[in-house]
Amino acid sequence: MLSVAKETVETGSEVLHPGAGVRRLFPFFTEGPGGCYLDSAATTQKPALVLDTLRDVLVNHNANVHRGAYRLSAVATELYDEARRKIARYLGAPSERCVIFTRGATEAINLVAYGSELLFQSGDVILVTLLEHHSNIVPWQMLAKRRGLKVVFADITPDGELDMSDFKAKLSSMKPKMVACTQLANSLGTITPIEEVVRLAKGAGAMTLVDGAQGVTHLGVNVEELGCDFYVCSGHKMYGPTGIGVLYGRPECLELLQPFQGGGDMISYVSVEGSGWADVPQRFEAGTPAFPEAIALGAAVDFLSQFSRAEINSHEIELVRSAIDLLKGEQGVTLHGPGVRGGAQTSVCSFTLDCVHPHDFATIADTHNVQIRAGTHCAMPTLRKLGVPATVRMSFGVYSCEADFQAVVSAVRESRKMFS
Ligand code: ALA
Repeated sequence: MLSVAKETVETGSEVLHPGAGVRRLFPFFTEGPGGCYLDSAATTQKPALVLDTLRDVLVNHNANVHRGAYRLSAVATELYDEARRKIARYLGAPSERCVIFTRGATEAINLVAYGSELLFQSGDVILVTLLEHHSNIVPWQMLAKRRGLKVVFADITPDGELDMSDFKAKLSSMKPKMVACTQLANSLGTITPIEEVVRLAKGAGAMTLVDGAQGVTHLGVNVEELGCDFYVCSGHKMYGPTGIGVLYGRPECLELLQPFQGGGDMISYVSVEGSGWADVPQRFEAGTPAFPEAIALGAAVDFLSQFSRAEINSHEIELVRSAIDLLKGEQGVTLHGPGVRGGAQTSVCSFTLDCVHPHDFATIADTHNVQIRAGTHCAMPTLRKLGVPATVRMSFGVYSCEADFQAVVSAVRESRKMFS
């Protein structure tokens, strides 16, 4: 009956090494379009383990969770709960009760922004940074509008690093009630000094939210050691399905939040006079959850756990270094991000071309079988600060390899010839 769990254990025994060799485990490369997929920051490809798990749940275990007295529902519930336990272990959370399933990192941040609304008073400050994805800016701006708060941005350096002296100055002068910061910037690949950010923010009495949408896959995390109040991530950026994400919260912080959505499964009782809330985590999971996706995210975590974290980290840092070295020598290319001058950067390499718009470049690159993102990468304030309207962004995953870059270089040369 529990075929998902069995398959997971069997596949989980193999030790994997990042690089082109793992493409054999990804149907996208073996049966699908394949190619030089350089957009893993937008979404990762899915290993067969995740796809098979999703199918298996829908074929063999499809019954609503937390509702049925029959065996099929009990098994689906057990698989769902087991996925929560796996993810809690993967994040280093003290208990699965700290893990809330959401639709993605965006919904997780919105949940905190809505749920914490009553903790703020008019004039309070939320400190974010100029490295944030829009999802770690807009929910705070919406909250600010509702409650009369101020959203303040810590600056970045011209290299795209977090300006820690500005951060510290704003922390001490503005006394923010919430500090929300990315662990790894999706637009530039900047690794922020997140341990220091959290330590300083907590020392200043602020709540802390870390956007781990990129960081969880490319750097890894132990939320208990990090000490943040909230940490968010998205399944589809960690080799799992879309439509599923995670909010980790310290137990005492989750207790402070109001439920974001009302409905079935999040209540302890409902009467005509009013309703009472279920315990955390159910309190924040109204309605039928995306349980097949959650279980498949558990499989993605099993997949990721087959690698050494240190190997993933060095593989992706090495790819960024090689990409920078290769493109540095190309005429008309300007690289953006701290790695260009030896700063901390991983999994992403952003650049612009002197005479080719990033969108035109991405279209030409496509004819070289390169899938690459062009635009503002949902990080308009970052790009604006750097003074570029858009960039071309290569982003890597465990299956990426240096051979992918050769096609990028060919596309650079062809596009410059066409446009100059
Ligand atoms: N956040 C996604 C990206 O960085 C969409 O491309």
